[in-house]
This record gives sequence, C-alpha cells and structure tokens, in this order.
Amino acid sequence: MKDWEALRSECMSCQNCGLAETRTNVVFGEGNQEAEVMFIGEGPGEQEDRTGRPFVGRGGKLLDEMLGMIGLDRTKIYIANMVKCRPPKNRDPLPAEQEACIGYLRNQVALIRPKIIVCLGRVAAVKLIRSDFKITKEHGQWVEKAGVHMTAIYHPAALLRDPSKRPDTFADLKAIQARIQEICDHTY
Ligand code: URA
Repeated sequence: MKDWEALRSECMSCQNCGLAETRTNVVFGEGNQEAEVMFIGEGPGEQEDRTGRPFVGRGGKLLDEMLGMIGLDRTKIYIANMVKCRPPKNRDPLPAEQEACIGYLRNQVALIRPKIIVCLGRVAAVKLIRSDFKITKEHGQWVEKAGVHMTAIYHPAALLRDPSKRPDTFADLKAIQARIQEICDHTY
C-alpha cells in the first residue's frame, strides 16, 4: 500500500491502459482523507477531464445538491471514480480498463478506511458490490463487505436523463443519512 503522495504521483503518470492516450487530465479523486463516507462514480466526463476534478459537470452540480439534502458536502466525504481517465465519448469503461485502474481505488479505500461506501450507478456497483448487481432493482439495498457498509444509488447522470428516478433516490439518500447517524463518529 502506498501513501497519498506516492499513490497520487504514480496515478498522475499512469500508462496502465489505453485511456492514457486520450486523456487531458487524470482525475485522481478528492475530498476529506479522513472521511467516513466515500462516494464512487464511474469515470471522468468532459468537464472532469478538462479540469482534473471529479463531478464538476452537470452531474456534479446535481451530486452537490444530493449531498446537501442529507447534510453532506465535499469537505466531509471523499469522491473517487472507478477509472481515473475519461473514456472516449463517455462510453462505459471496459472491464480491462477497470481492472487496470482498480488498484488505485483499492489503495484509496485502504488509506481512508471509510465506514460507508456509496456506489454512484451501475458500473461501480457491479465491480464493487456484486457482478450481477441490478441498479433498478437493488439501489438502496445494503451489504457489508469487510466491515464496510455498502450501497448503490442511481448515478446523477441517470437522474438528469430520467427525473422519475428522483423520488427513489431521495429515499435512498435519507437511508444513507440514517446509516451515517447510526455508525459514523464524526459530527455530520
Ligand atoms: N461521472 C462520473 O461517474 N464521475 C465523474 O467524476 C463525473 C461524471
């Protein structure tokens, strides 16, 4: 396991997969390194690739609003992605790309030791919770893995495409808030 500095510097010059050829910036992740709650998205989009920061586009604005609904903001959590470089035309990251990148995320999780991991969307849930995870049916459900409480909610981009998913997500967010109050120590 690497410390933050070593991990970031390795990640910033990564050539482990083909996404290195087309990226503008690596999006390492950001937030509170002492966070008890981690949110994990899929991969950088156009704005993220341009700025090097996670969730700064339209989906990011919505994510900020979702966090606000349950008393969270970016200073209290850590936000990372399954892949650190933008897949061309925002396609889903390929299994090989995710595999090439997952070591960075595992190291981030090992450094942070979160109590709760929230997967944003299907891609993160399939890789981190269960390979046959069905986001439409199983969003908001909880599993415990190696002592970490894990759940998945719809990706903000899915909520932008289909607002009818928002009430379900609001309920899932409230359950996340309740779980935080139950098991987290920080005052959120
Ligand atoms: N979508 C993601 O999954 N992650 C980001 O950082 C931005 C958009």
